[in-house]
Amino acid sequence: MAKRNFVTIERHIIEEQMKHPEATGELSKLLTDLSIAAKIISREVNKAGLVNILGVAGGENVHGERVKKLDVFAHDLLFGMMDHGGQLAVMASEEEEGVMEIPPDKRVGKYVLLFDPLDGSSNIDANVSIGTIFSIFRRVTEGGGPGGLEDCVRPGVKQVAAGYVLYGSSTMFVYTAGEGTHGFTLDPSIGEFLLSHENIRIPKRGNIYSVNEGNYPYWSDGLKRYVENLRSEQSPIGKPYSARYIGSMVADVHRTLLYGGVFLYPADAKRPNGKLRLLYEANPMAFIVESAGGKASDGAGRILERTPEGLHDRCPVILGSADDVADAERFLREERG
Ligand code: AHG
Ligand code: MN
Ligand code: MN
Repeated sequence: MAKRNFVTIERHIIEEQMKHPEATGELSKLLTDLSIAAKIISREVNKAGLVNILGVAGGENVHGERVKKLDVFAHDLLFGMMDHGGQLAVMASEEEEGVMEIPPDKRVGKYVLLFDPLDGSSNIDANVSIGTIFSIFRRVTEGGGPGGLEDCVRPGVKQVAAGYVLYGSSTMFVYTAGEGTHGFTLDPSIGEFLLSHENIRIPKRGNIYSVNEGNYPYWSDGLKRYVENLRSEQSPIGKPYSARYIGSMVADVHRTLLYGGVFLYPADAKRPNGKLRLLYEANPMAFIVESAGGKASDGAGRILERTPEGLHDRCPVILGSADDVADAERFLREERG
């Protein structure tokens, strides 16, 4: 019989931790708690198609209780699952204007968690893949009290871990702690994430481009020239690239990670900083893609080196296969002169 070696996410996290004798286990606990939150969100996402039976989000269910929108549910769940473990000093979410302090009756830890609780929310009602994205820093403020804004608003190079959960045909948990990007698939029959994609390496060059081409009229000439080149027989692969765009960053980035190619949410005349948020969308994805051997650029330089000003800053995003991202940067550089 073929030898099967089931590696649960808990085991993998602990084995990674053991490579660092100085580690206290706090980051491991944080990642494990996130994977449990992911299972609960996954269960709710799977029920989303039953809204007409169980109650429409925003309305009432059969018990007369208000049914939360999935993004609000995911936000509340993540905060509630992560506030009492003793590993976090402060949190921030796409769904909350300011930082979220650890309640005074809970133990405060040394890490900082930023998240996009539900990414791709426009796809929920169509049963199309959606996700959750998270980014983890070490706190910089002193003391045993709650952390603050300066712990959260930091350049992406300072991340200690980042990941996403993809609620697709299977649910996947993908994370990096800076040493390789690893993917786990949820086996619903046992309720465990099992290692399915160890040390993901993104192809150096791909054959897929992924961008919302509805924004074409607002693109710069350099961006238009870049995408037109990809669609032509003069492309780097000598034939037109394929187009794929889901409109859920998690799903588009996940495909890019596995198949290669380039994903863009660029700056344009309408959105000079693009659409995606630096701290809980662009930075974690950039960290994951770079840990898998790819590149992540804002068009001019590394996303991870940007200095954020506020929690909800936006940032242009071009990420994926190293050669493809370098090409995009070159077209944009030539245009800037
Ligand atoms: P969110 O649902 O968290 O607000 O994020 C949506 C984002 C991202 O997932 C996706 O890449 C992008 O919006 C799609 O935007 P367009 O509809 O403008 O293409
Ligand atoms: Mn999002
Ligand atoms: Mn969101």
